[in-house]
Amino acid sequence: MKIVVADDYKELSILTAKTLASQIFLKPDSVLGLATGSTPTLVYRELIRMHEQDKLDFAHVVTFNLDEYLGIDPKNENSYHYYMQHNFFNEVNIPKDNIYIPDGQAEDIDKECKDYEMSICKHRGIDIQILGIGQNGHIGFNEPDVEFEAATHTVKLNENTIKANARFFKDQNEVPKFAISMGIKTIMNAKKILLLANGETKVDAIYHMINDGITSQVPASILQLHPDVTVLIDEAAAERLDKHKIIV
Ligand code: PGA
Repeated sequence: MKIVVADDYKELSILTAKTLASQIFLKPDSVLGLATGSTPTLVYRELIRMHEQDKLDFAHVVTFNLDEYLGIDPKNENSYHYYMQHNFFNEVNIPKDNIYIPDGQAEDIDKECKDYEMSICKHRGIDIQILGIGQNGHIGFNEPDVEFEAATHTVKLNENTIKANARFFKDQNEVPKFAISMGIKTIMNAKKILLLANGETKVDAIYHMINDGITSQVPASILQLHPDVTVLIDEAAAERLDKHKIIV
């Protein structure tokens, strides 16, 4: 696990965008695994800038999002469909057919999960996966649990996540209680992973991800076993790390 402590949120976002741009430059038909939430918004803004000013071309890029709330209308401004359209897809030239986000309104959710896995396989896997991390150590919506869930599946969101995500909704009661998420195996199958975190609310999650044993109680700890993970954090999120152990 490579750990990069950036000066601030802006620097870690630009570093991430540069890594994605270089991936796309080297392999124009790259398959990107994308995340939502507040953490990657500046990465998307920087990629849009690169598209507009540096001609970064997304014409052959394929994307798979990590997750979506269950039962939410894609037009609802809190859906991850809406987030992706408004924070990224509307501003770059990724063909509509190359964009995959779990359908939270699918009639047969089990089939939707299986089809999602199948689509990732058909595209020969994810080249580079962007992850945020929950305050409780979740990745995607893989919540702390008694065991790791392998494939794309439905999840019951835990109280901590509902509380953390309530800031995006008018009322905490409006936060959906269930979601569809890529599983741990889906994420671990990505060839390269970039995990981003900033701010003091992530300090404990980052500490446990790196220092605890591998445990489904801290889902991100599984990343210790992945051969190509870069953790990009700011000083605040790195506060509890032993500076001598940071390998860059
Ligand atoms: P955030 O969410 O980027 O909004 O902090 C990250 C996550 O919950 O995975």
